[in-house]
Amino acid sequence: MEVEQVLHMNGADGRTSYANNSLLQRAVISWAKPIVDASIEKLCCANLPAECLRIADLGCSSGPNTLLVVSNVIDKIQNMCQNLNRRPPSLQVFLNDLPQNDFNTVFKSLPGFYKKLDERKWPEPCFIAGMPGSFYGRLFPKNSVNFFHSSYSLHWISKVPKGLVTEGLNEGNICIAKTSPPSVFNEYFEQFKNDFTVFLRSRAEELVPQGGMVLTIRGSINSHEPHSICECLGLKINDMVLEGLIEKKNLDSFNIPYYEPTMEELMELIEAEGSFRLQDLQVFKHDWDSFIKEADSGLDKKARAGIFSTHIRSVVEPFLVSHFGEGVMEDLFRRFEKDVLDYMEKEKCQSIDMVLSLTKEY
Ligand SMILES: C[S@@+](CC[C@H](N)C(=O)[O-])C[C@H]1O[C@@H](n2cnc3c(N)ncnc32)[C@H](O)[C@@H]1O
Repeated sequence: MEVEQVLHMNGADGRTSYANNSLLQRAVISWAKPIVDASIEKLCCANLPAECLRIADLGCSSGPNTLLVVSNVIDKIQNMCQNLNRRPPSLQVFLNDLPQNDFNTVFKSLPGFYKKLDERKWPEPCFIAGMPGSFYGRLFPKNSVNFFHSSYSLHWISKVPKGLVTEGLNEGNICIAKTSPPSVFNEYFEQFKNDFTVFLRSRAEELVPQGGMVLTIRGSINSHEPHSICECLGLKINDMVLEGLIEKKNLDSFNIPYYEPTMEELMELIEAEGSFRLQDLQVFKHDWDSFIKEADSGLDKKARAGIFSTHIRSVVEPFLVSHFGEGVMEDLFRRFEKDVLDYMEKEKCQSIDMVLSLTKEY
């Protein structure tokens, strides 16, 4: 099945929805805010259009995070225009995600968003539109967008690497895992390399000259020790295969289209593509579950495991369901919840989030 046709986060606002389980991504947006602010400040000082400023958020998903970045950006533009004694331009904001994203929930939240804009006396019209489609390709006309933003989306690659599908290189795993042969790492990296280069090339065509882009990408500390959360999920699927609850051939034919690059890999790809100048790069290193401890340090282990498991479920469940079916999900995530914190402690699981501020070179 084509990744574009099935990939999305859990929609609506139920117990396992992305909207109710995206605390980590929300924390990451707040870490990146000073870098987004600096990029907007630069844009306002050097390149603010008189008529209309176009912004796009790529991989917007649905829930409270979707309009958070847009709201922060508008605040910053308003402050800058006051400081510079300029009338703000009108705004056109594009919310992009794959077609299966729950755009309905996003659109239903727009009246409340417009009301808040009125309350804070934003003086010009703001037009918000959905832009369904893959960011691994063109989404907008040439030279039309002033600022791109994308958070926690670019580690999803456009397809499961070809060799994993046709040659079954990664039997018993669902991602790059300790027992995967080196060719699996190479296949994933090649796919990420192609996708990220297409992403940069597409955005370079769409950005106005000197336009800005801030990308937040979840990454690996070392490329050959990826420590992916999906590895733990794969172990639980393996257990269910051993108990006859999932067919082995179903596990062997499944791989997640997900790659967490290292900082060095990203830098090399940006330089090789050549359209962008790096203005700023910040790296945040954290334990996988630190966002839960930071939100509430009084939670016991069982409560933390529950929150962590539902957080992961809200992200990967639709993709797992497209292959394994809905029927095994409760059991799978119960097992995952039971073991994931011990797994993290044993493996000392940490990730990095990289925030990159880029401007178009020409
Ligand atoms: C973890 S969510 C992040 C959502 C939001 N930016 C946040 O920070 O909370 C990743 C989003 O990227 C979207 N995505 C993945 N691949 C994509 C692609 N090729 N084109 C557009 N969106 C994509 C997914 O559908 C998902 O909604």
